[in-house]
Amino acid sequence: MNILFFGEVDSTNDIALELARGGHPHGTVIAAESQRKGRGRRGRIWHSPHGNNIYMSIILRPKLPHANIPLLTPLIAIASAKKIKEIAGLETSIKWPNDIMASGKKLGGILVEMRQGDPEAPIIVAGIGINVNMEQADFPPELNATSILMETGRKHDKIPLIEAISGEILFRIDRFDKESLISEWRGMLNMFGKEVKVVTPKDTLAGIALDIDENGGLMIRLADGAIKTILAGDVE
Ligand code: BTN
Repeated sequence: MNILFFGEVDSTNDIALELARGGHPHGTVIAAESQRKGRGRRGRIWHSPHGNNIYMSIILRPKLPHANIPLLTPLIAIASAKKIKEIAGLETSIKWPNDIMASGKKLGGILVEMRQGDPEAPIIVAGIGINVNMEQADFPPELNATSILMETGRKHDKIPLIEAISGEILFRIDRFDKESLISEWRGMLNMFGKEVKVVTPKDTLAGIALDIDENGGLMIRLADGAIKTILAGDVE
């Protein structure tokens, strides 16, 4: 595994995409101390101040069928949660599809971006942001966010976490198994039986979260009793 450490960058995803276009191999990791233009999902900004957090991106060239590519995001969330537990002793859950949560607040997020290169081997970059040593006062007040420090009361070294998370992601991609991934994901989602509002690319739906289906789609019961499965969206 090759980890390239940077100081301040615009976005580790941009660097990874550029290096991937230049031919850098599967498993190359880019980590930075801060980001000027950290990107979140749905066009949001990812707050990326200096020094306290993990900002990393991995170049992926997985040998997986196209249909399984969307499952890389939960795979990465599960791998990150597992290593946060092992190394920092913090139990986390996942908010569908892939927010890493602790005490009902956001601890980390995943942004997978794809660029068409060779049609047989698209360029995939998985960006991971984890709040590690942030204090409450370091967050903008409007963010419902937490950090490993805030949850455990201790500071944690970022490098072992970056190494372990990268290793776990690559290991899981090598041994990709859809059924066990879906069942592990189901066990980490903390929303079943609860009211949710889901923003999809087309509309916003409200209902009770029931389960995820065999492809990872979120099943919700709408007010009229109908059950709808949502393949892409965000739970608010
Ligand atoms: C989310 O909105 O939940 C996804 C956040 C992803 C943030 C990470 S930080 C490292 C990488 N570089 C970016 O610009 N974004 C991702």
